[in-house]
Amino acid sequence: MVIAGARTVPVVLRSRAAVSGTGTVDPATARPEGTMPLRGPLVDRYGRVHTDLRISITDRCNFRCTYCMPEEGLPFKARAEILTFEEIARVAGVARTLGVTSVRLTGGEPLIRRSVVDLVARIAAIGFEDVALTTNGTGLDRLARPLAAAGLRRVNISCDSLRADRFAAIRRRGRLATVLAGMAAAEDAGLVPLKVNVVLIAGVNDDEICDFAAFARDTGRIVRFIEYMPLDADHAWSRSQVVPAHEVLQRINARWPLVAVDEVPSGDPAPAERYRFADGRGEIGVVASVTRPFCGTCNRLRLTADGAIRNCLFSDEETDVRSLLRGGADDAEIALALRRCVWGKLPGHGINDPGFLQPARSMSMIGG
Ligand code: 5AD
Ligand code: SF4
Repeated sequence: MVIAGARTVPVVLRSRAAVSGTGTVDPATARPEGTMPLRGPLVDRYGRVHTDLRISITDRCNFRCTYCMPEEGLPFKARAEILTFEEIARVAGVARTLGVTSVRLTGGEPLIRRSVVDLVARIAAIGFEDVALTTNGTGLDRLARPLAAAGLRRVNISCDSLRADRFAAIRRRGRLATVLAGMAAAEDAGLVPLKVNVVLIAGVNDDEICDFAAFARDTGRIVRFIEYMPLDADHAWSRSQVVPAHEVLQRINARWPLVAVDEVPSGDPAPAERYRFADGRGEIGVVASVTRPFCGTCNRLRLTADGAIRNCLFSDEETDVRSLLRGGADDAEIALALRRCVWGKLPGHGINDPGFLQPARSMSMIGG
């Protein structure tokens, strides 16, 4: 796609396919079911190697974002159903032996779990290349420094509006000022580069796209515009509410020309397509999960707070590792469960298929 910026030379805004070479894998390339390797990296039937583990450490949250939770909250899991720190660290340790190199802690809201700093220290001690966390930002003023000292490298902070009243309407709890203070605290603690996640919903906050671009330019924070996905507990999602990534890029590019950032040399298949401003001031990203799926390069697996391994945000099957952990299984059995779960991954999430059904778990029960 070539878009002419106002009074500037045309800028090439590449599609995901052009950037990474793939959107969704070809189902015909599946290796036969019975050929799962028992050694080497965590690989699925399409050859995708899994190196990124997302760990949800609680299903609870102090916010009630409209695109995620109902106003009255969800029936949260009982404490006994939630994995202990020992159990989480054990799964993470096994994953490390299978080639997982990066971990991200999520929730619900991970910072409301008591002693989260101790958990970060345990995970960091396992020896991952990257330990990151996604938060709504509310606890950071207090926790940013201890988290960084415990080995946390980076944080992503969700913030869907820069207007206090609208922030309150979208997230139903919490205050914009607190979240902005949390961003500053994270930077002071060295948790950089800071990424700011913006879920765009048509007619709700898409008039702030350029405000957020200006925010990225002014602060050096990387703003990532995320397409609204059918993962809200209210099942209110509709395709008409999705703001397509190409529209976001066009709007920003018309004001401040953008240049696509090449993938990092290591080939890290992060889902965000990255763009920097042509004048050198700042960077934005788009996560086009709906309009330009990146399943073809997906390297992620997820551990839910109640001990299920999921191979996709949208899968309707999961592997129960909690009963293995609590039933005396050894590490080899846990490793096999992880391998089987990854091996069973589907070629794509199917959001755009006619028969798509929203998964039973909504976002706060999976982890972003
Ligand atoms: N669609 C897209 N993103 C979502 N998130 C939560 N629910 C949705 C949804 N339905 C995002 C949050 C946070 C991350 C964990 O997931 O904003 O940035
Ligand atoms: Fe909480 Fe995050 Fe869900 Fe918002 S999106 S309700 S902050 S878990």
